[in-house]
Amino acid sequence: MLDSQLLKIAEDFGSPVYVYDAEKIEFQYHRLTNAFKNVKKLKLNYAVKALSNISILKLFKSLGSGIDTVSIQEVQLGLAAGFSPDQIIFTPNGVSLLEIEQAAKLGVKINIDNLSILEQFGTKHPNIPVCIRINPHVMAGGNANISVGHIDSKFGISIHQIPHILRIVENTKMHINGIHMHTGSDILDIEVFLYASEILFETAKQFKGLDFIDFGSGFKVPYKAGDIETNIEELGEKLTARFNEFCKEYGKDLTLAFEPGKFLVSESGSFLTHVNAVKQTTSTVFAQVDSGFNHLIRPMLYGSHHDIVNISNPNGRERFYTVVGYICETDTFGNNRRINEITEGDVLCFRNAGAYCFSMASNYNSRFKPAEVLWHNNEAKLIRKRETFEDILKNQVEVDFSPKKKVAVSK
Ligand SMILES: Cc1ncc(COP(=O)(O)O)c(C=O)c1O
Repeated sequence: MLDSQLLKIAEDFGSPVYVYDAEKIEFQYHRLTNAFKNVKKLKLNYAVKALSNISILKLFKSLGSGIDTVSIQEVQLGLAAGFSPDQIIFTPNGVSLLEIEQAAKLGVKINIDNLSILEQFGTKHPNIPVCIRINPHVMAGGNANISVGHIDSKFGISIHQIPHILRIVENTKMHINGIHMHTGSDILDIEVFLYASEILFETAKQFKGLDFIDFGSGFKVPYKAGDIETNIEELGEKLTARFNEFCKEYGKDLTLAFEPGKFLVSESGSFLTHVNAVKQTTSTVFAQVDSGFNHLIRPMLYGSHHDIVNISNPNGRERFYTVVGYICETDTFGNNRRINEITEGDVLCFRNAGAYCFSMASNYNSRFKPAEVLWHNNEAKLIRKRETFEDILKNQVEVDFSPKKKVAVSK
């Protein structure tokens, strides 16, 4: 969609506002399915955590996607969006046995990444099939906070513990229907991913009744001009060849599953803010916008880069600005960026704001969470209202501290 259309949305819906381009989501979905078109059974389960608005989930449903969920609430959201339980996989980490049982009761696919929980679940529910999340100990993610396959990671069951898994399966007679890995976000090197996949194939050979192998996600998208991205087409070609070969060895056409979040929605998203003030200090020119890390935490949390564009003045002279928010701690969105000249009131657009942006937003500083708009069929549709003061107070319980009236005691 065009920046002029984004500008109109900022005028019509106010700011801050998240905007998602449905066409871009569809494009990415088809790009991924196309890269793996030579796999007989392919299943994409969109990772709800990236962007969980119910209209986005419905869009994925219309595309034929399933969903990957990490909390019972995400499962419920998926069901509310119309996904059938068998279209939902529950891939939690560190949740209670009870929460896994609740999800299983709703009929969704279960993925377990802890030996103790596996044993307890298998003992109580030997008839419910379970997928196992393996930790292949491969360092694939780009940032320590989003790299989850390494040896010290809390995610997955170590490949060195396969004998334990096999003992649990033998003792409980439970059925393992899938093997899963998610090595981390921002895969830069396809060869590393393929290496981790080999570990998954080796593991899969030890389980006879599999229906699917889930390769997780972590596909990197470009954040700025010239940035590297995971070469999906090359990965598709290489992994398809290897997967099809493995299925022959295994003697069954397994489903190849992925659970992408960022790849599908990151580039579809724009975050629009108005500039409250331009502040010149001795060394820096700050552009202060009507938002902060309460709405977009990725730069402060992971040092993520979001291109920032002045869509009110696209042809203005470029100058250097440090773009900050209004939060009472440091909340720098971008340091010394070249941006077309900014005047107070201009609309700044943060690119790549589809994944892990609104879904990580909070009410810090008692600010409202922003509105969300979906651009679909050349029309801007409000898919989440901006919060109001009632939302801030909604679940708060007031205590009465007024002085107690003295009760007269008769003698
Ligand atoms: C288990 C699991 N699957 C899928 C994803 C989605 O990853 P990405 O957004 O990089 O595609 C994540 C991200 O944290 C995850 O933890």
